[in-house]
Amino acid sequence: MSRVLSGMQPTGNLHLGNYLGALRNWVAMQDSHECYYCVVDLHAITVPQPPEKLRAAIRETAAAFLAAGVDPTRSAIFPQSAVPAHVELNWILATFTPLGWLNRMTQYKDKSAKSRDLELLGLYAYPVLMAADILIYRATHVPVGEDQKQHLELARDLAGNFNRHYKTDFFPLPEPMILGEAARVMSLRDGTKKMSKSDESDYSRINLTDDADAIALKFRKAKSDTDALPDNVKALEGRPEADNLVTIYAALAGITREKVLAENAGSQFSKFKPALTELAVSKLAPMTQRMRELMADPT
Ligand code: ADP
Ligand code: TRP
Repeated sequence: MSRVLSGMQPTGNLHLGNYLGALRNWVAMQDSHECYYCVVDLHAITVPQPPEKLRAAIRETAAAFLAAGVDPTRSAIFPQSAVPAHVELNWILATFTPLGWLNRMTQYKDKSAKSRDLELLGLYAYPVLMAADILIYRATHVPVGEDQKQHLELARDLAGNFNRHYKTDFFPLPEPMILGEAARVMSLRDGTKKMSKSDESDYSRINLTDDADAIALKFRKAKSDTDALPDNVKALEGRPEADNLVTIYAALAGITREKVLAENAGSQFSKFKPALTELAVSKLAPMTQRMRELMADPT
């Protein structure tokens, strides 16, 4: 059986992008793969974390895994820091990671550009630890959102380097699984930026802990435009916010964007947003409820 590993940072505010881009696919892969799902706390501390908040976020992230449907009787759920081998392989990989490869990583450039205080070795070497997370289990498949593609390529290159150097096929080259209509969910305030845990505006994202009122309010305030919905996907080009709302609808309903447009062509956002809200609430409410129960019962 091929093996899956994926990770999520415990940095609070798990959101719809995490669910549609990653978590949902994690759940589906349990039927066909041996799965390892990791709360990557060592990655989280590459940016400053108040210890109490981090501890709470580790639990909240694990609760989200369970609430989304990761089944602990079939899949391993664990914090990265509990398995020292992640850090051990990280070091071994680091000894043959060319700096030129890390210099290309856009996530480091984006994060370190925000503050000189973040020009740190750990943040820079983040993708090497991620490669170690995957390779230590000799995982073959890695379900992630679109933004992690570049990191996955680095993991494949490191595995290939090792294999060539030692004339072995010890590490399988891990395959990224970037699945579904919503591999890249964008911010509700700016359709050109990805929905992110770290966005200062809470209106930019639907959190997995948001209740129905919060979801309704956020979609009502979501940036859109004044045109009606078109009848084909091509016509969404140049309308990033419209495209994003249609994509979210498609992913939640489990249909294509084409189908969403076929059903809603000619609608204004004043009509489409309430439909989107209703759909989102019906899909997310059971998960939110389960997450609350788990959070209220730490044992
Ligand atoms: P964030 O980027 O919000 O801090 P993480 O880096 O912990 O979240 O990402 C966890 C998983 O969720 C990864 O597989 C990542 O690709 C996916 N993911 C994060 N943001 C989005 C998004 N806006 N759309 C789709 N997938 C996303
Ligand atoms: N870097 C990933 C993210 O920010 C999280 C992550 C760490 C990960 N290690 C991993 C994802 C291993 C997949 C496999 O989303």
